[in-house]
Amino acid sequence: MKVPIDLQGDVAEVLVSEDQIQAKVLELGARISADYAGRQLTLVSVLKGSLPFMADLMRSITVPVRIDLMEVSSYGGSSTESSGLVRILKDLSASIADEHVLLVEDIIDTGLTLNYLVRYLRGKSPASLRICTLLDKPARRLVEIPVDYTGFTIDDRFVVGYGLDFGEFYRNLRYVGVLRPEVYSTPPVADAGPAVEPGPPGDPVAPADTGA
Ligand code: IMP
Repeated sequence: MKVPIDLQGDVAEVLVSEDQIQAKVLELGARISADYAGRQLTLVSVLKGSLPFMADLMRSITVPVRIDLMEVSSYGGSSTESSGLVRILKDLSASIADEHVLLVEDIIDTGLTLNYLVRYLRGKSPASLRICTLLDKPARRLVEIPVDYTGFTIDDRFVVGYGLDFGEFYRNLRYVGVLRPEVYSTPPVADAGPAVEPGPPGDPVAPADTGA
């Protein structure tokens, strides 16, 4: 049965407000600008979840930046665990050799996707490689990853908004929130595209095998 999505009404709790996000983006931008003073930077972000963060963060950085986008998809895992096997759907558009690179992420959960990406990008011989994430869920970490810039550390809860999705929806919320439990028990379905399997709150790859 199709359940209509109620963008705001489906949210049970706002975890990080729009004001908190915007203040944090300015703070991170100032730190990054100071750390890279006198240099230029390549921001690499991962579609689709990091888009709003990338768009806001790049405008709060005052050193020259160029941007590049990758798209990856997890595969081979169950519906509740990321496998760490990553398929690259869209690669970098330009060389990052000898460039200072900052990988911009929406959220780090198990860390498996990021672990793969870091190794992949290191193989491209950047001058330096750092990581910036808006959200961090350290409780679920399976691989240790040194994160240089963290926006908010959150509990082990499945969140949506500000780029993060459930069943590809809710990305356009201006805040980060938690959906009402009944939303997770019924897959959100749109008229276009296949229905997706629901995942429980806390599920790192719910729904499975979609772009991040
Ligand atoms: P990891 O490989 O387990 O760290 O998973 C990272 C990716 O899983 C993120 O880039 C998101 O696309 C997705 N993800 C993890 N936690 C959440 C969440 O709470 N909400 C939405 N997507 C999530």
